[in-house]
Amino acid sequence: MKVGIIGCGSMGSMLLDKFYAAGECELFVTTRTLSKLEGLPNDINVCKTNSEVAAASDMVFLCVRPDVLKNVLDDIKSAVSPDTLIVSLNGSVRFDLIEKVLRTKTAKVIPSVTAEIDRSQTLVCYNDLVTEDDKHKLKDLLSCMGDVIELAEDELGMGSELVSCMPGFIASVFDVMCTSAMEHTSLPKEQVVSMVLNTLTATGELMLKKGMTFGEVVERVATKGGITEVGSSVIYEQFPHTAQDLFEKTLEKRAQTAEKCSSLFTDDSIERM
Ligand SMILES: NC(=O)c1ccc[n+]([C@@H]2O[C@H](COP(=O)([O-])OP(=O)(O)OC[C@H]3O[C@@H](n4cnc5c(N)ncnc54)[C@H](OP(=O)(O)O)[C@@H]3O)[C@@H](O)[C@H]2O)c1
Repeated sequence: MKVGIIGCGSMGSMLLDKFYAAGECELFVTTRTLSKLEGLPNDINVCKTNSEVAAASDMVFLCVRPDVLKNVLDDIKSAVSPDTLIVSLNGSVRFDLIEKVLRTKTAKVIPSVTAEIDRSQTLVCYNDLVTEDDKHKLKDLLSCMGDVIELAEDELGMGSELVSCMPGFIASVFDVMCTSAMEHTSLPKEQVVSMVLNTLTATGELMLKKGMTFGEVVERVATKGGITEVGSSVIYEQFPHTAQDLFEKTLEKRAQTAEKCSSLFTDDSIERM
């Protein structure tokens, strides 16, 4: 299979690395600043234009920010064949907007940074033109980064918060936790971080392997009248406000981005292929 990547920033270069390492497809790539692609292995095809990548590929990943997605779709629309699967990495631009420029087989894919260690829970959704065969091929390709989860388009926003943004939220929470712990210990910061991180991953694995709920973990550790119970109570009393605020703000930001994107797609006529 021939796979194209347009835009080689954070996500595009991660996909390129992963697909190249998996060694199961021929790769075609381009980006705005071509000098950034110097030094790639010889068996990766570097193309000069977006349309060149689209014309050469069975599947084209659009790894660009939402504000340039419309321009990229304009660049490639006359180069894609009806068999080409377009894959947008952006969750905010809806299929109906993409289809104003290019109505063809289209998927959206949201990977997580945990793909770096092959532990992504990559989200996918499809428009109505994508066939079961396309879905299998895309899922197979993405499985080199971890698990693949199919969601309805309307669930992609909250889904993205839970798997793609969550590494950032988790890192922020435990950064705060470690900073507070540092005020009460003379242990070096690296050791504090390492102890928390290892406990964090082990707790996750314990829950997944033993099928435990969060409540069951709390119950196992927080004996009545004990120290963990005191700390746990502080979290259950105070953290819900923060968590509520977080999701209200991120979902509001998501809606604003979607609104901004839709204004970029206003004057185009639908091109049916
Ligand atoms: N970062 C994440 O964790 C994450 C997770 C899931 C989804 N996403 C989505 O993935 C998309 C890409 O995000 P990113 O973080 O990879 O952004 P990024 O690092 O800014 O990369 C965007 C790339 O697009 C290239 N580009 C800009 N205009 C172009 C054009 N007209 N033609 C071809 N290439 C062009 C840029 O090229 P130059 O470098 O040459 O300027 C840059 O390499 C976004 O829609 C984002 O919402 C990101």
